[in-house]
Amino acid sequence: MQTWLYIEVALMFGSGILGLGHHYFWIGTPDYWLTIGGFFSALEPIPLVAMVVHAVYDTGSHGFKNGNHPALAWVIAHAFGNFFGAGVWGFMHTLPQINLYTHGTQWSASHGHLAFFGAYATINIAFFYLAIQHWRGNVWMSGGMTHQWRWQWAIGLLNVGVIGMTVALLIAGYEQSFIERAVEGSSWSGYFAAQNHPDFQSAMVWRWLFGVVTLAGLVLLIWDLLTIGKGESRKALAITEDVASS
Ligand code: HEM
Ligand code: HEM
Repeated sequence: MQTWLYIEVALMFGSGILGLGHHYFWIGTPDYWLTIGGFFSALEPIPLVAMVVHAVYDTGSHGFKNGNHPALAWVIAHAFGNFFGAGVWGFMHTLPQINLYTHGTQWSASHGHLAFFGAYATINIAFFYLAIQHWRGNVWMSGGMTHQWRWQWAIGLLNVGVIGMTVALLIAGYEQSFIERAVEGSSWSGYFAAQNHPDFQSAMVWRWLFGVVTLAGLVLLIWDLLTIGKGESRKALAITEDVASS
């Protein structure tokens, strides 16, 4: 389905370049950026939806065998992370009428974290696992029965941690948009009313706790990347051929 790929890429550039206009709403640029940025960035999720549809339709159609479980798991995390972090979390505050209230609140930080982690960190980590597999001599990359818990816990803790941070920041951003902007009209006292509100303060505590979970996942990930595949003798290719011929 190569045609689809071209359509997706065309949509990506078509919406993405002018869609960046959502960063030009309130920085002293001419008013036409409200229309351009709002319109084109609202189209940005379309190629992201198309990619998810494409991925779901392609699943199983190749019947591939996979000798690198952590890499595949991180690619799957990427498919979801990109779609939700950029597509859904971005779309939520991209219309200027909404962004007027959310701009510069923790809402941006909520989207920023899920988008960067979901779209970029995940795919990089998948490539790290592929590179290490190659480096160790194309061995079977599962960590073996004794060590596979490391990459499994690393991906689990990192995803739970970042999603937890995202939700906590979203609650904080919602509260700021509501109290500081909508109710108090962006006033000086409104800023402090929002900062001192119990919902905001507890969201900051939750953000901190999930940050610790994220950090724990990162430490485990680094440990796993340094050790996985060492001393492994089963070749991924040989296993693939075994499975294919059986
Ligand atoms: C991989 C894709 C993406 C990444 C890594 C990303 C990352 C970010 C980051 C870091 C910010 C904060 C910037 C700042 O505070 O100056 C941001 C803001 C924003 N992004 Fe994204 N984003 C992505 C895709 C999208 C998409 C597809 C949309 C729209 C559908 C979107 C809509 C927005 C909006 C509306 C803001 C807030 C602008 C503001 O109020 O200043 N983003 N993004
Ligand atoms: C222990 C985990 C983490 C902590 C404690 C943390 C903390 C922070 C803080 C305090 C900010 C500044 C927010 C502000 O200006 O209001 C920030 C911004 C940012 N962080 Fe993180 N972060 C963590 C993990 C991550 C991860 C995993 C990613 C992505 C891979 C990431 C990407 C970003 C980005 C893109 C921004 C800029 C967002 C914006 O401008 O709104 N962070 N982070």
